[in-house]
Amino acid sequence: MRGTQLANEPDFTEADFQRVRRIAQEEAGIHFPESKSTLVYSRVSRRVRETGHTSFRAYLDSVQAPDGRAEMENLICALTTNVTNFFREKNHFVHLEEVVIPAMAARVRAGGRGRIWSAACSTGQEPWSIAMSIMTAFPDAASHDVRVLATDINSQVVAQAATGIYPEEETEAIPPNKKSQFMEPYGQGILRFGGSICRLPAFRVLNLNATWPMKGMFSAIFCRNVVIYFDEATREHLWRRLADKLEPGGFLYVGHSERVATKNECGLEQIAPTIYRKDH
Ligand SMILES: C[S@@+](CC[C@H](N)C(=O)[O-])C[C@H]1O[C@@H](n2cnc3c(N)ncnc32)[C@H](O)[C@@H]1O
Repeated sequence: MRGTQLANEPDFTEADFQRVRRIAQEEAGIHFPESKSTLVYSRVSRRVRETGHTSFRAYLDSVQAPDGRAEMENLICALTTNVTNFFREKNHFVHLEEVVIPAMAARVRAGGRGRIWSAACSTGQEPWSIAMSIMTAFPDAASHDVRVLATDINSQVVAQAATGIYPEEETEAIPPNKKSQFMEPYGQGILRFGGSICRLPAFRVLNLNATWPMKGMFSAIFCRNVVIYFDEATREHLWRRLADKLEPGGFLYVGHSERVATKNECGLEQIAPTIYRKDH
């Protein structure tokens, strides 16, 4: 793909690929291996065309110009992979409903607060699943100080997540009793979350590899299927920062192919293949 130019396709050289790789690493901590040039080309070439450029070089010059910040954000959005689903890795939600939320409910009813973080929330299926689990195990949660912080670097998916609106065929993984309790029809073949569950999630744009504004601690953090795009040093640094944001005894859920290599240094104990508990 590199060094070629198809009819009406923007020119893409080896130098352009290396430049996109550097931008992805510096701006988002996303590491594209040398083998991913076709993927990078297909994701970025659309932005190149849509912004009226005929070469990657001219496009990247404009992105890195002093007034290129807005397009830099579009470029980062184009480079992210946003695949997700409701109740993905179901065992995490069973653990959440059986272990985390009952303990949180007891603390919250005694005047405390309950916080859970979906740290790479994509189009929202993960934080909305967390909210459904909270409402199932703690039905009056929305009238207490309970929140699900839902963040992602991609502002477009965060905006979509915040609507709580999904095509019906994308809601198949939601158990029928939860779907009928928490979702309502919103036009032909479309459902949306409705009622008090909508008070739980708070959606924000946040780069996991930048500074975080949150001051409080979390009872559980979902950081799943995102560090696979980071290099090892970035991954282990992030695990350490996430462990620091967990309350003593709090839980970190990771993706099925992810591991915390430095768990002992992070004060984390692995209690299941993809579930870690912070030391008391
Ligand atoms: C494959 S999705 C995972 C969604 C969800 N956690 C799940 O497991 O279904 C990965 C998400 O990570 C986000 N992401 C990538 N780099 C990020 C970064 N540096 N900070 C925050 N989010 C990031 C992407 O925008 C994307 O939405």
